[in-house]
Amino acid sequence: MTASDSATPSLADLDHRHVWHPFTPMLQWRQQPQLVIDRAHGPYLFDTDGRRYIDGVSSLWCNVHGHRVPQIDQAIRDQLDHVAHTTLLGLASPPSIQLAATLARITPGDLNKVFYSDAGATAVEVALKMAVGYWHHCGQPRKNKFVAFQGAYHGDTTGSMSIGYCDLFHRLFGPMIFPVHFVPAPDASHPPTSFTPPPTQTSTTTTHNHSYTWPSEDIALTDALAQYCLDQLEDHLRQHAHETAAVVIEPVMQGAAGMICQPPGFVRRVAQLARQYDVLLIADEVAVGFGRTGKMFACQHDQDDTFQSPDIMCLAKGITGGYLPLAATITTDRIEQAFCGTIDQRRTLYHGHTYTGNALACAAALASLDLFDTNHLLDHIDRSAAIIADRLNALRDPDRYPYVVDVRQRGLMVGIELAQDRQSRQPFDPAARTAANLCLAMRPKGLIIRPLGDVLILMPIPAMPQDVLNTMLDTVIDALSGPLTF
Ligand SMILES: Cc1ncc(COP(=O)(O)O)c(C=O)c1O
Repeated sequence: MTASDSATPSLADLDHRHVWHPFTPMLQWRQQPQLVIDRAHGPYLFDTDGRRYIDGVSSLWCNVHGHRVPQIDQAIRDQLDHVAHTTLLGLASPPSIQLAATLARITPGDLNKVFYSDAGATAVEVALKMAVGYWHHCGQPRKNKFVAFQGAYHGDTTGSMSIGYCDLFHRLFGPMIFPVHFVPAPDASHPPTSFTPPPTQTSTTTTHNHSYTWPSEDIALTDALAQYCLDQLEDHLRQHAHETAAVVIEPVMQGAAGMICQPPGFVRRVAQLARQYDVLLIADEVAVGFGRTGKMFACQHDQDDTFQSPDIMCLAKGITGGYLPLAATITTDRIEQAFCGTIDQRRTLYHGHTYTGNALACAAALASLDLFDTNHLLDHIDRSAAIIADRLNALRDPDRYPYVVDVRQRGLMVGIELAQDRQSRQPFDPAARTAANLCLAMRPKGLIIRPLGDVLILMPIPAMPQDVLNTMLDTVIDALSGPLTF
């Protein structure tokens, strides 16, 4: 027996005894053998038995350049030679200053002031407090409510749960969260029952195997649905703008909702309504930022003369290339100025975390941002996104892939929705955990991906070499052609 043979069972056993995993049914977890990831390199993860897997979830949507990237490793080592962490409460640090200046340069519009924290959820909490504080300091304290989109996910702290309410996850915590008004998101696969689809809808008609139109790409349907959602938003703002601090959106793609994509121009039109009714726009770019959708920031897809940037942008996940926990809430000078005054005016933003602006994390982030330029990463992402779109065209064939009912893609974020059959779109019995079992079945083939409900999520590492990407797609497409019974 080798050292690693003996290490695996004992680590798995200790895990079962002591670790409470996030979003994990623990009873079932403890009944199964577990994969213990011991090391990684480039796009690959290796378990304690030395088996290799493609990291098809970008280590929960955060890894950007791959694992053990020499430049990021070195930047962290160099920073360690200075100091690992010092506080930003009352002190400054070189990497946090340099990173803030870089973020101000690369984010769109006049976003210029960076408030650090350490997770996507905390970036969102900060944004909510900024919005409410801003209106308070502007003499409009009644503007303290939020509008969000149904299905949105913004994290698991109390405020972020409130604006991303999900019955399955949050019902238990109802008494802890504050009321938020939700408007529908343009989810063409599951439109609200009150929405009447346009007569030209083609989404469920099969023409030819390879010209099948997924619901999410049916232009007549998505345009009409987007207009319906915007009308709902406007109806609400017309009546409630006087008590609304901000509209919060995951721009371009609602990730955790199952990759629900918005048609081009949707973010801009939401921004226009926010401006028209004098409420702030908060863009949660935690998942979509740093190249995932093909632009550095997702809002940039909708940039034009009338829309430059949201008022507040939340960043996390990919900010350090997926190396260390760091988040940033970035806003305009105008909003930050509202928090400046004499001491007795008490305008300070009373919020902070111990590891805010951690020096190692900021150093990793600076190195990661350099690599975007050095490696022309956005161009690589464009090419990879085209490969994905091209390869997933195969899934349009209803005879070979009868369980695939929608494929949604923006850049490198992909959701493949499964159901019992394409015609009825009847969901699988949730107890069957069809997509979860399908993902488990891909592990022996060397691929790790995670579903969201019955949506397979593909989230390749942005810098993933294209031969590895093709292997990942081969594995997924092949698995989808089998009978989905486990
Ligand atoms: C859009 C969005 N916002 C916020 C979060 C929360 O980020 P974190 O898990 O770092 O708190 C997530 C996590 O998936 C997310 O997708």
